[in-house]
Amino acid sequence: MNARAPAIHDHLASLSDTTRSRILLLLDRQELTVSELCGIIQLPQSTVSRHLKALADGGWITARAEGTSNLYAITRDLDGAARRLWLLVREHVGPSAAATQDQRRLQSTLAERRSKSQEFFSSSAGQWDRLRDELFGDRFHLAAMAAFADRDWTVGDLGCGTGQVSAALAPFVARVIAVDASSAMLQAAKKRLHQFDNVELRRGELEAIPIDDARLDAATLMLVLHHLPEPERVLAEVARALKPGGRLVIVDMLPHDRETYKQQMGHVWLGFSEEHVQRSLRDSGFGEITVVPLSPDVKAKGPGLFVATAQKHMPSRKHEDTKKS
Ligand SMILES: C[S@@+](CC[C@H](N)C(=O)[O-])C[C@H]1O[C@@H](n2cnc3c(N)ncnc32)[C@H](O)[C@@H]1O
Repeated sequence: MNARAPAIHDHLASLSDTTRSRILLLLDRQELTVSELCGIIQLPQSTVSRHLKALADGGWITARAEGTSNLYAITRDLDGAARRLWLLVREHVGPSAAATQDQRRLQSTLAERRSKSQEFFSSSAGQWDRLRDELFGDRFHLAAMAAFADRDWTVGDLGCGTGQVSAALAPFVARVIAVDASSAMLQAAKKRLHQFDNVELRRGELEAIPIDDARLDAATLMLVLHHLPEPERVLAEVARALKPGGRLVIVDMLPHDRETYKQQMGHVWLGFSEEHVQRSLRDSGFGEITVVPLSPDVKAKGPGLFVATAQKHMPSRKHEDTKKS
């Protein structure tokens, strides 16, 4: 006999899929369109639409038309069992790495929606943002930020890859020493950087950086830390190569759950929490530590990023005085 399953089993089936739970978590707080959901969840429209249909069929969400789009939201009057089940699932899914990343992308999406509506109401500020992008693109000011670097600096671009960071810094500083373990990457960097005579490429491992002690004024580890089995060992090496007071800038991923990156791209770490970065830097001889999540680019498909800055400790006064006497 094949009796109709009780409603609770249908509810369990709807919420057993992680993506559906993530979608519901987003729609629990505000209405979103399919394309906004695609950007946040980082899945194609066909997949998101399939999940939305399943959630709508199960009575979990409702849609209302606005202009040419549909806006989706969680059903406000879920039945008692469904609501209790959802509260339980929400409690467990909410703190997951994927849902945390979703929330960050949601904030960017909502910010973009606000600026679009500003534009719609044709404030002069909204018009200027659009005109600025049309005329000059939306990234030139980020490239120009490298001009804050002191022109006397020697900077280490550690794990330089194809040399994008070195190319951004080279016009503004005295010297860039770019280090990477991969000869293929260094070959590509050589091509990119051929017009700069102040960039030196060195092949080597970051666990034994081929740079003398206290040589660098500043260093960057851009999208490198997640490849390193022992990040603290490398950070101690960076501290050795920096002058006292020298600055380090790290960019890497926030915690995420994309296990496949390990096989596909040789990642060792699935991102880093702010506490992990703070602790590793402190234990490796750095102070003045700041860790800030970067505002996600809504077009980006990868996990959210953070930027961390820190300064190598200055020798303590007490130590100096002891040496003098
Ligand atoms: C994801 S790429 C990032 C490249 C570049 N920093 C950028 O932002 O485009 C990581 C780079 O780190 C290098 N790398 C990884 N582990 C390394 C190690 N232990 N020593 C030296 N280089 C390493 C790789 O060869 C690769 O070029």
